[in-house]
Amino acid sequence: MGDSKRIGILTSGGDCAGLNAVIRAVVHHAVNNYGWEVFGIRQATHGLMARPPEAFNLSPDKVDPYLTAGGTFLGTTNKGNPFAFPMADGSLRDRSQEITEGYHLLGLDALIGIGGDGSLAILQKLAQQGNMNLVGIPKTIDNDVGVTELSIGFDTAVSIATEALDRLHFTAASHSRVMIVEVMGRDAGHIAISAGIAGGADVILIPEIPYTVDGICNAIKKRQEQGKNYCLVVVAEAVRTEEGATVTLASDLEQCRLGGIGQYLSEQICGRMTAETRVTVLGHIQRGGTPSPLDRLIGATFGVAAVDLIAAGKYDHVVTWQNRHVRSVSISDAIAKYAAVNPEGTLVKTAKGLGIYLGN
Ligand code: F6P
Repeated sequence: MGDSKRIGILTSGGDCAGLNAVIRAVVHHAVNNYGWEVFGIRQATHGLMARPPEAFNLSPDKVDPYLTAGGTFLGTTNKGNPFAFPMADGSLRDRSQEITEGYHLLGLDALIGIGGDGSLAILQKLAQQGNMNLVGIPKTIDNDVGVTELSIGFDTAVSIATEALDRLHFTAASHSRVMIVEVMGRDAGHIAISAGIAGGADVILIPEIPYTVDGICNAIKKRQEQGKNYCLVVVAEAVRTEEGATVTLASDLEQCRLGGIGQYLSEQICGRMTAETRVTVLGHIQRGGTPSPLDRLIGATFGVAAVDLIAAGKYDHVVTWQNRHVRSVSISDAIAKYAAVNPEGTLVKTAKGLGIYLGN
């Protein structure tokens, strides 16, 4: 047992599978092994902005049922940057001080923030400005936080996308179709390349590697010449049109929502060759559902390590997974290092070795 502490925990940004496993591990280790109190904060920093702050005491018994549940039982948001918070009248207001005041009103000694690079950057700024002791845990299905080999949620998303490909093989073969599967990944193609290789795709398109529609058509024709009547194409939502345009569904004040590159490719392919295409957009299915064993394992590891960082007074750090070990790095380093798919890296070489068309 160390000194008695009250710590807060919040989830920020898009949800993903595995978040509840992190919260559970934090509560077990902090309560059972250190004798601390843990408060779950609702709806990311919005819970700290509310008056009274929206937070509730978490016991091991309370968190246990959530181990296998998707999403985050604390709630989250990927909207409302507190430094430019969108108000009802359309104006933007700096509400950062309300959040740090909320932290102090709750009497917290430290805060664990689970988020992607955007959330971690905002939380760090808040912590520096408002004297909060912050420890970060990286989560994002996009797996683009550069300092960690794995972020919470990525493995489950890849499993879901792979299972979708497994299912689509049969219906594609039955109808001799080109099946295009659009997967998430706001800036990076990690889900696409991992699921594409695992699921036996014939074409994988990622934003890191340029492609041509003719290149895709040639890959489909090559399969036809080999007697293969169908083709599976995986495309990351961040892939641009051949002319370099981003394909979006909608945009609001804070961000644009990607979507539609699968449909674009379908039309382009049909316009240039004889092929019947169908498009499947996996969307938020990749974020939901039961977390994979690996996401639960990494989640538990990160949760325990984050509590140990607080016990050691090592704030302004995030936990990461590197070379089979959990290690901590400064939040500044974590934010600075972005991980796109390396076009010269192992997975790209593997895909090429398998004869998958990736681009030019
Ligand atoms: O960053 C995670 C992510 O799932 C991206 O892959 C995707 O583009 C985005 O979030 C979707 O966000 P929203 O939940 O706002 O639609």
